[in-house]
Amino acid sequence: MKPLIVANWKMNPQTLTEAKQLFNSVKKGLKNIKNACPGLSRRVEVVICPPFVYLPQLQTTNYKLLKLGAQDCSWKKKGAFTGEISPSMLKNLGCKYVIIGHSERRKLGETDEMINKKIKAALKIKLKPILCIGETEKERKEGKTSEVLRNQLKKALNNLTIKQFNNLTIAYEPVWAIGTGNPCDPLEAKKALLFLRNFFKKQLILYGGSVNSKNAIPYIKKAQFQGFIIGGASLRAKEFIEILKRVSKAQW
Ligand code: PGA
Repeated sequence: MKPLIVANWKMNPQTLTEAKQLFNSVKKGLKNIKNACPGLSRRVEVVICPPFVYLPQLQTTNYKLLKLGAQDCSWKKKGAFTGEISPSMLKNLGCKYVIIGHSERRKLGETDEMINKKIKAALKIKLKPILCIGETEKERKEGKTSEVLRNQLKKALNNLTIKQFNNLTIAYEPVWAIGTGNPCDPLEAKKALLFLRNFFKKQLILYGGSVNSKNAIPYIKKAQFQGFIIGGASLRAKEFIEILKRVSKAQW
């Protein structure tokens, strides 16, 4: 499986025009990198996860290197669920991935049980879930990181078949590192990664939390993560492309 670089645009940008501009800048930047580094598409997959409303406009089936993902999905297929978006609607718009259980959604009340249902619903129609897990600052200080990760996984992955389990991607995102400009030290993140490797032998494990072009590489080289979820830095085309450039040169 190829390493993944996931851009989580969160609730940005504010207009469709800006969304298209950002998307096209990333596409252009990627093409340039690809020209300089022809093996890139074999080595890394880049996923843009914009707000739902921009997905139809950014649908891009003709550019192999840039995939689309969503930031969430419903666990329901269809019907009277006001405000919800089903996995099949996302698939129909060209999404290949969906982020599930992001800490910003958990803060709004999403539970591990809901996450479990969303994962199953996504997998059912072959939309690839990227499951986010991570500890809060308080839990970290209390030395509970492994316990928190284990509990989140146990509930989120309840009753999954082996095949479903094998199709997951996991993102380790310490809550305290997300959007704070205070990334987790790569060696500390590595401890979480090694813990997760006990359960996930083949699946991709990504790191997320204040990643930028200056700090990204050690997560690959020192900690052996297989990609990133990038929030703030993915909203600045130049910065995001710089990350991709550096990552494309790194040995995975
Ligand atoms: P950040 O966000 O890069 O802004 O910390 C990460 C995320 O949203 O997963």
